[in-house]
Amino acid sequence: MFGKSSSKNKKILLSGVKPTGQAHIGNYFGAMKQFVDLQNSGEYECYFFIADYHALNLIQDPAEMRKLTEELVLDFLAIGLDPKKVTIFKQSDISSHTELAWIFDTIVTMPYLMRAHAFKDAEAKDKEINVGTFNYPVLMAADILLYNTDVVPVGQDQKQHVEYARDIALKFNHIFKKEIFKLPEPLILNAVATVPGIDGRKMSKSYSNTIPLFATREQISKAVMSIVTDSGGPENGGIPANVYAIHKLFKTEAELKPLYEANKGKYKALKDALVEDIDAFIKPMRDRRAELAKDTKIVINVLADAAKKANKIAQIKLEEAKEALGVI
Ligand code: TYM
Repeated sequence: MFGKSSSKNKKILLSGVKPTGQAHIGNYFGAMKQFVDLQNSGEYECYFFIADYHALNLIQDPAEMRKLTEELVLDFLAIGLDPKKVTIFKQSDISSHTELAWIFDTIVTMPYLMRAHAFKDAEAKDKEINVGTFNYPVLMAADILLYNTDVVPVGQDQKQHVEYARDIALKFNHIFKKEIFKLPEPLILNAVATVPGIDGRKMSKSYSNTIPLFATREQISKAVMSIVTDSGGPENGGIPANVYAIHKLFKTEAELKPLYEANKGKYKALKDALVEDIDAFIKPMRDRRAELAKDTKIVINVLADAAKKANKIAQIKLEEAKEALGVI
């Protein structure tokens, strides 16, 4: 089943992050923290990648693209991903992704892609939508399916995309009468499926409501002080809901209860406590990141090694698909 590349005993895990700006604590708690935990569980063969071709829909400046890509690799390393244990690669280094995306384009219909949330959101904003944005789920299906992926750890906003990958795998296998692609499952942790931002909406670079994952203390303080505390009538008995929702990421509810009871209505004191807790959490990763950044070759080396490995695996799957199509 599923061709030559699935002989390993371990389950295969894959996920990607777009280099479209500074990674934030929504990315971290929603997905990247799971990357590290799952790496350390030893149960999976893991692939994590920088989705630069997805980012190209937004980042169309070469210096910025290079900088954001490099920064995201450093972020991956600083949170604890270990290139000796997992493969950290860049999507554009593996041309099989775009090649397979084209193959999928020929079996996916436009009405089906028009149902994608991201497309509908863009359409609702009356944006001029480029073909890359419309096609986003197809490239993402190729990302996932090339590696015989079992599990895709993501936040809630990516669930539909993993479902698209499953549908596309099923359709391909059905049309070409061969079990080429394995059906992946999303892995979403309920408690952090949608991490809220400082305005209570989903934390997102596009809403400018983020707390950067490697923020300095000053940046943390600035972001926390602007958490909206007066959004919609009396707060729950003096507990500012937006502050509490973010605080919960850093402390257990049992730890927070006495603090919030003792400081009912004292939003400044609660925000000060939150700044302390975020800073204490981020500082070791921030320091580690600064240390890693001193090695100017580290990013190039990690990506070069990983590209070799990922290319080998992806090419096997692509050839299986091409054989099934009848083009080789
Ligand atoms: P991206 O770069 O937008 O986000 C990276 C990861 O962070 C999660 N996330 C969140 N989780 C909880 N709460 C939030 N507020 C929050 N904001 C972001 C996202 O769900 C994601 O898991 N399309 C993907 C990148 C991608 C990909 C893939 C992922 C491309 N190919 C293949 C998995 C498999 C994206 O835009 O993620």
